[in-house]
Amino acid sequence: MTYKSIPDLTDFLPEPLAKAVLNQYRLHLNGTHGLRHWIRVWKNGEELCCSTGANVEVVRLFAFLHDVCRKDEDIDLLHGVRAAKLIKTVLQPEFLHLPREEEKLLEYAVQGHTFGWKEADPTVMTCWDADRLDLGRVGILPHPDRLCTEAARDPAMIRRAYAASKEG
Ligand SMILES: [Fe+2]
Repeated sequence: MTYKSIPDLTDFLPEPLAKAVLNQYRLHLNGTHGLRHWIRVWKNGEELCCSTGANVEVVRLFAFLHDVCRKDEDIDLLHGVRAAKLIKTVLQPEFLHLPREEEKLLEYAVQGHTFGWKEADPTVMTCWDADRLDLGRVGILPHPDRLCTEAARDPAMIRRAYAASKEG
């Protein structure tokens, strides 16, 4: 199987994992849920981690894996469930080798990120907020009531993330 070119993904993931991600992703890499979104989610998450105490490695992996099983740029409610299964059955045993606790957090964050949930472990909530803060790319200003953590609800954080998401 061929894989698409690897623009900058290897800046964030080890090359074998980056290749596996690119092999799996069925949509356009420059699309709404593609690489630039993943990078912004990581930047948001990295910033939130300073306040939330989230596990940085889990947040980083969430950013680059949570949309990997999308089949549609619009409604695809179960893509998180599919991605969590991919992590459990392929990515964890072949590439990630995370400690069990981190694996559980990552799988739960990925599996649940499409359902609008707000209560979870701080690492999971940080993942969900990092993704929701990037809604400006589809014309939506993130609403504080839809965010899980105080750090994400900070108006300055929302402003920064929204501005970045509009830049593309
Ligand atoms: Fe996302």
